[in-house]
Amino acid sequence: MLRIAINGYGRIGRSVLRALYENGHRDHFHVVAINELSDIDTMSYLTRYDTTHGRFPRPVNVEGNCLIIGDDSIQCFSCVEPNDLNWAELNVDMVLECSGSFSERERAQAYLDAGIPRLLMSQPAAADMDATIVYGFNQADIRTDHTIVSAASCTTNCLIPILDTLSTFAGVEHGVTQTIHSAMNDQPVIDSYHTKDLRLTRAALSSIIPVDTGLSRGISRLMPELEGKIGCNAVRVPTLNVSVIDLVIRTQRNVTKNEINQALQEAATLKYLGLMGFTQEPHASVDFNHDPRSVIIDGTQTQVIDGRMVKLLCWFDNEWGYANRMLDVAKHWADLISH
Ligand SMILES: NC(=O)c1ccc[n+]([C@@H]2O[C@H](COP(=O)([O-])OP(=O)(O)OC[C@H]3O[C@@H](n4cnc5c(N)ncnc54)[C@H](OP(=O)(O)O)[C@@H]3O)[C@@H](O)[C@H]2O)c1
Repeated sequence: MLRIAINGYGRIGRSVLRALYENGHRDHFHVVAINELSDIDTMSYLTRYDTTHGRFPRPVNVEGNCLIIGDDSIQCFSCVEPNDLNWAELNVDMVLECSGSFSERERAQAYLDAGIPRLLMSQPAAADMDATIVYGFNQADIRTDHTIVSAASCTTNCLIPILDTLSTFAGVEHGVTQTIHSAMNDQPVIDSYHTKDLRLTRAALSSIIPVDTGLSRGISRLMPELEGKIGCNAVRVPTLNVSVIDLVIRTQRNVTKNEINQALQEAATLKYLGLMGFTQEPHASVDFNHDPRSVIIDGTQTQVIDGRMVKLLCWFDNEWGYANRMLDVAKHWADLISH
């Protein structure tokens, strides 16, 4: 069983822990420790009650500096820097880095120096990490000698299976994406200061807010043949969870709406089974809250204009889908090491 720790117990860190108990992953992972800047009583409270995903499926208690979940005892720490904590003493096989604070290799390396053998990051990391993995697409790229791996972004996990399917079916010439993303914790409820982005000073509940996105970089890294061919924009909207990518692609050959939907439906039942969904129901975003899949294509919104311009609507639960993919990548990596 893999001994893991979670660093950063925010939306993704807590979703990872919950997914581990809800989706049968507890058989594969033992959570030894959580490091988060908050205090343990607040961590316990936010584990038990979650506005987006509901109550935690198991009893949660606090004993000293430990979170007690059923029979499991998880040590909790509050250290800002990796070397503030004696990680080696915890005998952890892998840290799931969910704080968003260590995207540069040099910063992430501090974990390895502090005694952690492997780090799985919850964000697209700098180019010099060992691998960027979209589970279902390229997990075979992980090697046993890798030490820092990124599970890419929620948007990359949503889009790559679609681009892969379209490339195989009709060829992708170029395209554009618009991500419509739920609010996140780097936005204030009412106007406030933000160090990196003026737009992120604006009240999350009152506006549709354009934000930077690294999705083009993510696509180029995973499908280098599409480098410079997909333009990406993103906006944040005042919803709690679930996002959607509006994708427009020019294919290399003529296609019909039915053919495209059929190809995507087939991918959802074969190569991307359990990771990609396809629906023709009249959905709203809230219907995909707590959906563990990376992407669900809304076939009712598919359009083909003039033979080669394909427009798709691709839903994803940016928290729950991504947390489940992190665990999939962690398990795949662990299996590789143990064989
Ligand atoms: N939310 C999503 O939909 C989503 C999806 C995919 C990937 N991601 C990525 O996952 C990362 C986390 O996102 P999130 O939405 O979970 O953010 P979040 O809710 O703000 O959680 C991050 C948590 O990490 C804590 N933290 C900050 N610095 C730390 C440190 N040095 N050591 C330990 N804990 C630290 C933060 O504490 P304080 O609040 O006290 O600073 C916060 O509780 C980001 O890189 C994000 O891009 C997010």
